[in-house]
Amino acid sequence: MTSLAPTPPRAIIDQFGRRLTYLRVSVTDACNLRCVYCMPEDMTFRPRHELMTDEEIMTIVRLMAELGITKVRLTGGEPTIRPRIVEIVRQIARIPGIRDLAMTTNAILLAQLAEPLARAGLQRVNISLDTLDPKKFRFITRRGDLSQVWAGIEAAEAAGLKPLKLNVVVTRGFNDGEVVDLAKLTLDRDWDVRFIELMPFGSEAEFAQTAVVRAAEIRERIEAALGPMHPVPGHDPRDPARPYRLMGARGTLGFINSISEPFCSACNRLRLTADGKLRLCLLRDGEFDILTPLRAGMPLDELKQAVWDAAYTKPWGHGLPEGIIPQSRLMNQIGG
Ligand code: GTP
Ligand code: 5AD
Ligand code: SF4
Repeated sequence: MTSLAPTPPRAIIDQFGRRLTYLRVSVTDACNLRCVYCMPEDMTFRPRHELMTDEEIMTIVRLMAELGITKVRLTGGEPTIRPRIVEIVRQIARIPGIRDLAMTTNAILLAQLAEPLARAGLQRVNISLDTLDPKKFRFITRRGDLSQVWAGIEAAEAAGLKPLKLNVVVTRGFNDGEVVDLAKLTLDRDWDVRFIELMPFGSEAEFAQTAVVRAAEIRERIEAALGPMHPVPGHDPRDPARPYRLMGARGTLGFINSISEPFCSACNRLRLTADGKLRLCLLRDGEFDILTPLRAGMPLDELKQAVWDAAYTKPWGHGLPEGIIPQSRLMNQIGG
């Protein structure tokens, strides 16, 4: 196959001129919770031999760093349940070129892990927190104990994992009545509380489409109760969240409006799934298999070129407005 890349491949700039610098690495598809919007209750997870080994993760992330990736986020499933996650963090933190190393987690295990993760080189965490009500938490997660999440948040703060971002997936009938209380958390804490529009995937798409709450409605509810919010200047336009601040608040409110206000034009993201596929867009099924050629012994220079060529073809953005819903994977198999 002829290569599209100028040689030798360096930074990845896709066919639309977007510089791809942010890699989300899913280290497992398994999770210790079963959130209603993420996966069915009887979800089965991949057998271990299908997942990248620690060494394979390192080889691929190193290769991606050579292609200009500077920011890595570890995701899952739930990344903290991966054996040796602290060691994985330590090794990624040492890869030349990786300047920002973060994790998205449900925080259930953070009370024990925040300190060792921070010492290993993790800089910050984004934590899922959809509700302040322990009963609702158990209902939404189908099993979780909210007090463990609070202990995890405290441990993250104590370990200096900053800035601390809280992810709220807003789901009609589950937690839409709580957005004001969740927004209030920013009044006296320097946390970034981000409200996320529910996205549809495969078998869970119908639920997502009926339960999605758009950002405009969330903002109206918050402003009606707490007064106007103002845009926070100087944020990175590549970030999915648009940040705002309530009057006098220490923290910020963010809105991740994949449905009502897609932000694909500034996208800088690639994803590595736990089974070693490069996923070019969260909401498009197109993937490039890295693990199979790596295991077959393809020389790393050739593999690097092939990754560059695949990344170059990253699609412009998602097709949700045209009714195109990703079918090949659920959220836990991508990592958000
Ligand atoms: P920061 O590095 O702190 O900006 O994190 P992040 O917002 O990129 O990561 P996080 O894992 O906290 O994701 C928050 C929400 O944004 C999740 O629902 C993700 O699925 C969603 N998200 C992240 N990246 C993208 C993206 O490229 N496209 C879309 N549509 N949603 C995304
Ligand atoms: N739509 C939007 N966000 C989702 N998340 C999980 N499933 C969905 C979905 N269907 C969020 C999680 C986590 C992040 C990685 O993605 O709450 O914070
Ligand atoms: Fe990037 Fe795809 Fe997300 Fe759009 S939907 S922001 S292109 S990953």
